[in-house]
Amino acid sequence: MKPTVFVAMGLGERYVEAMRERCDVEVYGGRTPISREELMGALRQADGVVGSAQLPYPREVLEAAPRLRVISNVGVGFDNVDLACATERGIVVTNTPGVLSDAVAELVFGLMVVMARRLRESEQAVRGGRWDATLRIPLGSDLAGKTLSIIGLGRIGREVAARAAAFKMRVVCYDARPELEPEAGVERLATLDEAMAAGDFVSLHVDLNPSTRHLIDEAALSHMRKGAFLINAARGPVVDQKALAAALSEQRIAGAALDVLEVEPPDAADPLLQLPNVYIVPHIGSATVETRAAMQELATGNLLACLAGEPCARIVNPEALSATQSTEGGP
Ligand code: 8YV
Repeated sequence: MKPTVFVAMGLGERYVEAMRERCDVEVYGGRTPISREELMGALRQADGVVGSAQLPYPREVLEAAPRLRVISNVGVGFDNVDLACATERGIVVTNTPGVLSDAVAELVFGLMVVMARRLRESEQAVRGGRWDATLRIPLGSDLAGKTLSIIGLGRIGREVAARAAAFKMRVVCYDARPELEPEAGVERLATLDEAMAAGDFVSLHVDLNPSTRHLIDEAALSHMRKGAFLINAARGPVVDQKALAAALSEQRIAGAALDVLEVEPPDAADPLLQLPNVYIVPHIGSATVETRAAMQELATGNLLACLAGEPCARIVNPEALSATQSTEGGP
């Protein structure tokens, strides 16, 4: 009997077709993200599910999915899954590392340039018929010669560091894992506070887990320079948003560019949306044609391999595997 797969997001037809060759496939056709109730209904019969890394799988959802064996995330993050519960239930969770690192790193540089060169104000001035706005908008600042502080030296942090060299920036980093060696030219700092204090730009690249939730709190922000910018293209809850809003409104830091928020989409009354020194984009780090295709291809391969009990190197909880399955390696 073929396994049943639920596709919980808009997925390219070729990937759905690849799944149909080996599985019975149901595709969510809604225009808005699937609701928890709809997901629970669809997972009642599913052996595997493919969806974005923003689709939550709390215990309640997993317990309503008696046959589920594989959750294939189209994304590198997996904080959307109650991993302990999935592991306990023998559900393997897979992700798509590597293929999105360039896209996220490119966005980070886009955000740094937007902030440093005041692009939003300049562009709005032109649209408002004020070409001579350069006379009134304060001058921007160079990236060259500035210090970029990278918090989290994983795949994406390293891609950001590599690009910073071309921008002629000095790069420092902080990572809680002492065994990770930075590349040549990247100076490792001993503490988070030192790294927060060192940067003209502080860019976050940690994953979200209990040890990184609100890692950037009021105390961490208090170490940043008055003229510094915070960039977050990692996960919203890594930053205590209330503390950030206070630091920004009191101009204790120069600005923040955020691709992710604690609550996505944000409440219309979220104070961050009112602040002039914040630039927010809607979680578009991996949102390019090439990258999304690569992620979908990887996620499809992950799902099919795991359902077939074939080796898969992108299982984030290999301990969930039954004795009949095997992996090539860890995440
Ligand atoms: C996407 C992401 O927003 O990779 C991740 O962890 O957050 C993003 O790339 C998303 O999961 C795309 O489906």
